[in-house]
Amino acid sequence: MRKFLFGMLALGAVALAGCSGSGGEGGGEGGEGKPITVGFSQVGAESEWRTANTRSVKEALVAPEFRLRFSDAQQKQENQIKALRSFIAQRVDVIAFSPVVESGWETVLREAKAANIPVVLTDRAVDVSDESLYVTFIGSDFVEEGRRAARWLIEDSEGKTGPVRIVELQGTVGSAPANDRMRGFKEVIEGDSRFQIVRSQSGDFTRAKGKEVMEAFIKAENGGIDVLFAHNDDMAIGAIQAIEEAGLKPGSDIRIVSIDGVRGAFEAMKAGKLNATVECNPLLGEQLAQLIRDVHAGREVPRRVTVEEGVYTMDQAAAELPNRKY
Ligand code: AHR
Repeated sequence: MRKFLFGMLALGAVALAGCSGSGGEGGGEGGEGKPITVGFSQVGAESEWRTANTRSVKEALVAPEFRLRFSDAQQKQENQIKALRSFIAQRVDVIAFSPVVESGWETVLREAKAANIPVVLTDRAVDVSDESLYVTFIGSDFVEEGRRAARWLIEDSEGKTGPVRIVELQGTVGSAPANDRMRGFKEVIEGDSRFQIVRSQSGDFTRAKGKEVMEAFIKAENGGIDVLFAHNDDMAIGAIQAIEEAGLKPGSDIRIVSIDGVRGAFEAMKAGKLNATVECNPLLGEQLAQLIRDVHAGREVPRRVTVEEGVYTMDQAAAELPNRKY
């Protein structure tokens, strides 16, 4: 009876957190010959990048080796906390998640630790005082991505006298990529007095918000914008629409640099509307699967696994487009 009640409770928790299961039959403890049950809490479906990341994770964590419990948080931390608690109640073998924001995780991560469930962070980092609350992190170096965007801008501004007036479309407030990309970008341009960030606002990593905020920037600056730095390609693509609707030419009247390297960005570069994109690789599924195997088997894993990435410009877009995998 107790077993049955626990089962019902766990099932209820899954439904509450909006989780969906996929994977093989049986198992649950992840022992010899049994699937490794993984609870994965995703940020949402806010961008082309995120869709590619979800696909990659789902393609890698498949039966019979894995049993995946997938939950979409719709960009809300409270949904992620609910999902993590439901994974703990189900006693999954490993929890993996991409935290929507950096802070506010101590309590739930302590609950996972008390239940002896290892936590793997993917894509975004957390800000916790106790580093033992997660085992490892796999993802990009967001500060470096911000620096790369700024270095591209400096190179592209060779011979130009100042001032160069920049507007910044930031990612989700409080998220690791928004905090770090802003920091990396500022760090590099600060040494060059030609560059001024005249407006900064969050577009929440979505096209719709990117367009809306860019419209407001254009109005407020009355045409005095030289450069747009967007924390992701989706917001840049939304902004391109706003720039065109204002009768300006994206890519020349306003130079644009963004981050991710999604197919949509390459298409925009090919059309001459986006100047450069800094790659942020979402295809983390296979590496995540290997980390989960290792963590579950008690093997030592690196504290941080970063991915190799590049920078692409307009003139490379047509040749590169057929090679893009996301
Ligand atoms: O955390 C990675 C960021 O999240 C990507 O740059 C952005 O497109 C996504 O929404």
